[in-house]
Amino acid sequence: MSRFTTDFLIIGSGIAGLTTAIKLAKHFSDKEVLVVTKSSKNESNTKYAQGGVAAVWDADDTFESHINDTLVAGDHMNLKPIVKLVVEEAPSCMRELMEWGAEFDKTKTGDLDLGKEGGHSVNRIIHHKDITGFEIEETLLKQIDQLPNITQLTYHFAIDLITDHHIPNKPWDKNDITCYGAYILNQKNNQIDTYLAAKTILATGGIGQVYASSTNPRIATGDGIAMAYRAKAKIEEMEFVQFHPTALYEPGQSPAFLISEAVRGFGAYLRNKKGERFMLDVDSRGELASRDIVARAIDHELNKSGERCVYLDCRHLDYKAFIAHFPNIHEKCTQLGLQFNRDLIPVVPACHYLCGGVNVDVNGQTSIKQLMALGECSRTGLHGANRLASNSLLEGLVFARQVVKNIIVNANDLKLTTVHIPEWNEEGTTVPEEMVLISHYINTIQHIMSDLVAIVRSNDRLQTALDHLNFIYKDTEKLYEKSKLSPQLCELRNLNAIAYLIVKQSVVRKENKGAYYNLDCL
Ligand code: FAD
Ligand code: SIN
Repeated sequence: MSRFTTDFLIIGSGIAGLTTAIKLAKHFSDKEVLVVTKSSKNESNTKYAQGGVAAVWDADDTFESHINDTLVAGDHMNLKPIVKLVVEEAPSCMRELMEWGAEFDKTKTGDLDLGKEGGHSVNRIIHHKDITGFEIEETLLKQIDQLPNITQLTYHFAIDLITDHHIPNKPWDKNDITCYGAYILNQKNNQIDTYLAAKTILATGGIGQVYASSTNPRIATGDGIAMAYRAKAKIEEMEFVQFHPTALYEPGQSPAFLISEAVRGFGAYLRNKKGERFMLDVDSRGELASRDIVARAIDHELNKSGERCVYLDCRHLDYKAFIAHFPNIHEKCTQLGLQFNRDLIPVVPACHYLCGGVNVDVNGQTSIKQLMALGECSRTGLHGANRLASNSLLEGLVFARQVVKNIIVNANDLKLTTVHIPEWNEEGTTVPEEMVLISHYINTIQHIMSDLVAIVRSNDRLQTALDHLNFIYKDTEKLYEKSKLSPQLCELRNLNAIAYLIVKQSVVRKENKGAYYNLDCL
């Protein structure tokens, strides 16, 4: 077991973590920035983002319009000052990304080619074909490589935040907790090391893997939110889980492959098995209603018909232009023998995004001192009850600015603790990990959530889910106490905590809003 110190400990290497690292390293050239990530350098939700980033760019577009679209999509549960801030910062954040080398699609006249997605009243999605996230992630990693005061540690799994709870005999008050760093499992030598930092920044991304079917990659197990919850940080709006309407229907595939909303923005229709365009009966915006509405309409359609999927119809679209915009989606469908100008594309909703998370203020400050959070693991108030398409990458960019600005203003605070922090206690953990039990419980949690706590909920379903989760919690804790830790065991524990938070916060919501829909609240 080793002990390390750094000025800034950033957990997560998606858009939120990397952008923060770059900005901190550039401003504080005499300080060290450490980015730890539990998988390879670029593995993240960010890497798979397809549609793009929303920003007011066109002369005909206005901040008011982007703000209004965000509020309507969020069912007016958003924090308006945060929405205003994010929307107004968007163009300059995108300019900065371009200065760093990111390339976005242009029209023949050299202007940015702006796409459209659900809930947007105009075309305002800046994109790099249908692999926008990959382009951004690679751009950020290239910047990181040029900054000597950033170290990136891959296959380093953060287990728990170090807070006052870990200091023997230190009394603590739940309203006055400080974070001193994190215990991190080095997956290369299976050692759990102590990392102390003046500031710890959570940028651990989403929770998609808590459901059986999700567009999120395997890393999306809500670790940061679970760690913050165990450390007694304020966690909010976990009931607002967004389901993307159009994941490719490929039973058993995890993660589910996304068919970007930009495909509907390009003009694709949704049809049921009978060939009917059912969205027009539900919302005047048709296929481009906000995601919660489209996902619910598909769910309803499937329950009514007993079918397993609905279909995207692209047969009427300009095939050449379609392939130029969506080469990645085209390639995936071609591998499955599906041709856009001939075949209907089978799609189903899948868990996609968490609107809530670790509660932060406008500066990314959590309720725990010296602990900041941003990106998908945080709840800033931007999204309200349902995120507007392509506002998430943007939130990561804007909040990286906010976090760094706040650290600069409070630079006098940047001190390492002088209190002795104990090493991770592994005493009594001799039993080898139980992989069969671990994967059994992960699968069970995923099916509980998909069956009982998905697009449509009810009080009885929530109570049944809670009973099952409590049972798994007890067994998981026993396993955790006696086992040598592995990332899988930690993920099981974190997924259980995330599932519990979603259910618990669903139970207290008495009104249907945005992505939250309970039959007993009608
Ligand atoms: P992530 O990019 O997920 O990064 C989290 C990082 O934390 C990862 O590096 C992970 O390995 C690391 N990590 C997690 N736990 C630990 C731990 N315990 N220890 C160490 N490291 C850890 N949004 C848009 O705005 N536009 C889009 O077009 C779009 N398309 C999407 C398409 C898909 C298929 C998906 C899945 C999402 C899409 N989204 C889109 C959402 C968006 O991509 C994410 O919300 C955003 O990328 C989150 O960024 P982040 O930096 O917060 O988290
Ligand atoms: C998509 O391309 O459909 C995803 C966009 C998003 O999640 O914002």
